[in-house]
Amino acid sequence: MSIRRRLTLLLLAGAAALSLIGWLLVRDVVERAAQETQDGILGAATRAVADEMRGGVEGVEIDIPFMAFSILGAAGEDRIFYRVTVGGETVTGYGDLPLPDDAATLAPRFLSTPFRGEAVRVAVIDRTLLAGGRSVPVRVALAQGNRSRDALAARLSNRAAVVGFGFFLMAAALAVLTARSVTRPVRHLADSVARRGPDDLRPVDRPVPTELAPLVAALNGFMARLDAGADRTETFIAEAAHHIRTPLSALRARAEIALRGADEATRAHLRDILRLTDGTARTAGQLLDHAAVVHRSDQRGGSAEIDLARLADDVVRAARPLAELRDIRLTLDVPGPVILHGDRVPLEAALRNLIDNAVKYSPDESEVHVTLRPGATLTVEDRGRGLSDPPEALMRRFARGANAGDVLGTGLGLSIVETAAAALGGTLTLTPRDGGGTCATLSLPS
Ligand SMILES: Nc1ncnc2c1ncn2[C@@H]1O[C@H](COP(=O)(O)OP(=O)(O)OP(=O)(O)O)[C@@H](O)[C@H]1O
Ligand SMILES: [Mg+2]
Repeated sequence: MSIRRRLTLLLLAGAAALSLIGWLLVRDVVERAAQETQDGILGAATRAVADEMRGGVEGVEIDIPFMAFSILGAAGEDRIFYRVTVGGETVTGYGDLPLPDDAATLAPRFLSTPFRGEAVRVAVIDRTLLAGGRSVPVRVALAQGNRSRDALAARLSNRAAVVGFGFFLMAAALAVLTARSVTRPVRHLADSVARRGPDDLRPVDRPVPTELAPLVAALNGFMARLDAGADRTETFIAEAAHHIRTPLSALRARAEIALRGADEATRAHLRDILRLTDGTARTAGQLLDHAAVVHRSDQRGGSAEIDLARLADDVVRAARPLAELRDIRLTLDVPGPVILHGDRVPLEAALRNLIDNAVKYSPDESEVHVTLRPGATLTVEDRGRGLSDPPEALMRRFARGANAGDVLGTGLGLSIVETAAAALGGTLTLTPRDGGGTCATLSLPS
């Protein structure tokens, strides 16, 4: 899951929880306030009734004032019940109205109870009156249904819910904005790294938040090492080529000189040395070519404009002397400039190896045709011994065909061609040619 989504969800969950808690708190306060309001009114009405009682010589005089009910009536449409007891006996009102059974106090007391199928709130006031020369405990209870109180509480808490939801919506918008702004540097960094080419190993120098600094430092260090590694490989390939080829050609020259003045037995040895030297030079050359092509395709560097016609001409010209030694006619057929974007080194190595194979596996005095077609297809056709193995098997590293016989080789040529073709986004196919021989086709995207 993306950081942004995770952050948004977290913030949204927090906002939802806070909104819910806020609403619960407000609802609690509202319910308490409604209860206190109801108790205040109920208490006042009860006191009004209690205050109208008088003790007398004959007994307690009870006069329920109308005012008490009008106070309650103004507060809502609820049903009202009352009960008055004198010395524990109900003298007027509902005899079954529940009363608290604890000791009397001066202040009104309240209790919530169901009564006659309805939830009611009861207020009770105790008085002691002097009646008939005795003090008599008098108890006044007034009850009111809870419906209007509940309706008020519900109205207020619904309003609180609407406010809470509005708060949540605002918090949600803020959450989205926050998540976006927090992840922006990460996105920008990823974009700037993704936008550069794979061979662009310059350090990232855009300013980043401190949390990302270690990551960027690690990335830069990594790229610097990669860059240095690539440089070292390039140097190694160049130096190895030079330091192997030079002594080998010196060795070859000495052996040839020695061959002239040697006797028959030594000549055989010297010829062996020459053959081995040639083989070693060839193997080293192919290995280094392969390394260079692999390295270049890793780097995907150099996307210069290449004229394939010119390149083919150069390679064919360079191959001609060797072909002519065996009276092989090497011809080139090009339609005109064919422009391609890519790296020249692998392309040259590929064509050189295809021509080398065609010449090597052809009989003396035959012909090899190199043809370039627009749309960037190069074919090399020979009248040689033909393929003995499936092409995929021959393209493997160090794989040589059963037809190779006494022809010198290392088995790296076709894998060089294949790697180069893949690096350029093209393909290599080897097919038998009509009338004998082989046709190698290098198709490149133009
Ligand atoms: N034009 C061709 N005609 C016939 N056989 C071929 C041709 N090209 C390649 N082959 C076969 O494919 C094998 C692999 O070729 P590849 O170029 O990879 O190696 P190589 O020519 O033997 O050695 P080197 O690495 O020196 O080129 C060859 O050994 C040969 O058997
Ligand atoms: Mg070859």
